Amino acid sequence: MTPETDTQPRPGGPTVYLETFGCQMNQLDSELVRGQLAALGYSFTPDAGQADVILYNTCSVREQAENKVLSRVGKIAQRKRDGSPVILGLLGCLAEREGTRLLSRYPQIDLLCGPGELNRLPMLIDNAMRTGAVEVADRVALAGNRSRRSATLSAAADNLELLDLSRSFDPDHAGGPRRSAYVRITRGCNKFCTYCVVPFTRGAEVHRPPDTIVDECKRLADQGVIEITLLGQTVNHYRYTHGVAVGLEGREAPQVGPGAAAFRPGAGSGNVGRVTSFADLLGRIHDEVPAVRRLRFVTSYPRDFGDDILQVMRDCPRICRYLHVPAQSGSDRVLKLMNRGYTRSEYLEFIDRARGFLPDVSIAGDLIVGFPTETDRDFEQTRSLLQRVRCKNNFIFKYSPRPGTSAWDRLPDDVPETVKRLRINELLAVQARVSEAVHAEQVGRVVEVFVEGASPKSRAASARGGEVELGWERPSVGVQMSGRTAGDLITVFDLPPGYSAEQVQGQILPVRVERAGTLLLYGHLEAKTRPSPEHGSDPFPAARLAQFEMSESVDFAS
Ligand code: 5AD
Ligand code: SF4
Repeated sequence: MTPETDTQPRPGGPTVYLETFGCQMNQLDSELVRGQLAALGYSFTPDAGQADVILYNTCSVREQAENKVLSRVGKIAQRKRDGSPVILGLLGCLAEREGTRLLSRYPQIDLLCGPGELNRLPMLIDNAMRTGAVEVADRVALAGNRSRRSATLSAAADNLELLDLSRSFDPDHAGGPRRSAYVRITRGCNKFCTYCVVPFTRGAEVHRPPDTIVDECKRLADQGVIEITLLGQTVNHYRYTHGVAVGLEGREAPQVGPGAAAFRPGAGSGNVGRVTSFADLLGRIHDEVPAVRRLRFVTSYPRDFGDDILQVMRDCPRICRYLHVPAQSGSDRVLKLMNRGYTRSEYLEFIDRARGFLPDVSIAGDLIVGFPTETDRDFEQTRSLLQRVRCKNNFIFKYSPRPGTSAWDRLPDDVPETVKRLRINELLAVQARVSEAVHAEQVGRVVEVFVEGASPKSRAASARGGEVELGWERPSVGVQMSGRTAGDLITVFDLPPGYSAEQVQGQILPVRVERAGTLLLYGHLEAKTRPSPEHGSDPFPAARLAQFEMSESVDFAS
């Protein structure tokens, strides 16, 4: 195999088009890939037609996500037939799940790289660009089932840690200066929900050392980041035992997760070393990186979510009172078939407990309809759960059978597509009413909004280049900005006259909510006091924007 050191920077190196599908983990992986390739002299283009190398970072969680990528792959075949020397690479979960079968079915694919092997991508690209035949083994990096074989980490997993770390040392992000970032705390998943490919594509749960995570947050804060989202498939299962996994230079190394048994009552009393729990980790980041004004985390698992985490969320003002905690179903029978490990009443107990600690907590979830054998009665229970929990939103999916999962092997996909469609439409309609009611509670309040950029409608209008119709429902003359509250409610407001989008983007600003819709809050930028005479009639001078940015607490002055 060609050594990985062959990945030398080249002056005027290749141009890469990188497109990401799927979850936040994939987005973070793509960011790391981008930094890694940029450091080797590669440049990036948003136009696939201009690229020497096309990379798709793929998702495999539902068939639809795979089909989307494969239709892109199909189009590249024509480009290659037309004589283009473009290199096509598939990264991520589809590559890992399907493996080398993809190469025989789609010969236009030059390289495959699973999510656990991304540190080897430069070597794969380099090999694929060599003229002449290169063995398949030199164009493919997949974990297979290796990461499940033992409790000790493979060398690849350690190298992957280096890739995670490399981001902290990258002084200029390819995407420009940024204010919001993801930080991975765990990789992989041990839960084996019967419908889900993630434990197979991302491997066993591995927990990163707390010092490394805190360090990464500090470095991001030094670069101007004020919002950090911690990522893990089941973040509340984060648990790092100190003194057992020491790597090079005495630094603590990532370690395989302890499994669900560690969270059962009475567990942890054995002779184990000092432990950093998820609550400890949150507290540390909050206290040691105060420049991060919003700290949030996804995704939470409804079981084993201790009061200690809720207490930290209650006591630390910069931790967002936001939970993404998927129920998946409201029926005990279906939850059991899904191997979720909790009942409907246990899920509800958690929601009530969370609201007991944090009355204003904003909750989002995921639901699956049409899981094998789901009856009308099961579905009714999901619907009633949705109404009872009143999530601000739910991501609702039709069950999609995934090869390799135990549901694929053991349970026929027996709910007809028409029934799945009826059920998803019904849940979406109920959720729309719930979301509207949850949003309506904010009307009249002042919420702090992390401004992300021009609203989609504003962007579409400016792309058309003409006189624009702005405002999501009513015409206006300015630019409409969009951002998120601490509870992840999307909020739009008109940019005050005389200000550019760049001036407010990446800041946290107070917005008074005027009205609410199903998807959005609508408001205006709130001046806390009347503008002083030296500011004339301009209610939002730059100095005042800076002052808003410094305000720590939400002003519920309505
Ligand atoms: N079919 C449908 N939805 C799925 N999800 C995961 N696997 C499947 C599947 N096979 C959904 C779950 C999960 C979210 C990321 O995707 O709701 O929480
Ligand atoms: Fe998939 Fe279940 Fe793990 Fe979530 S907890 S990633 S649904 S196996």
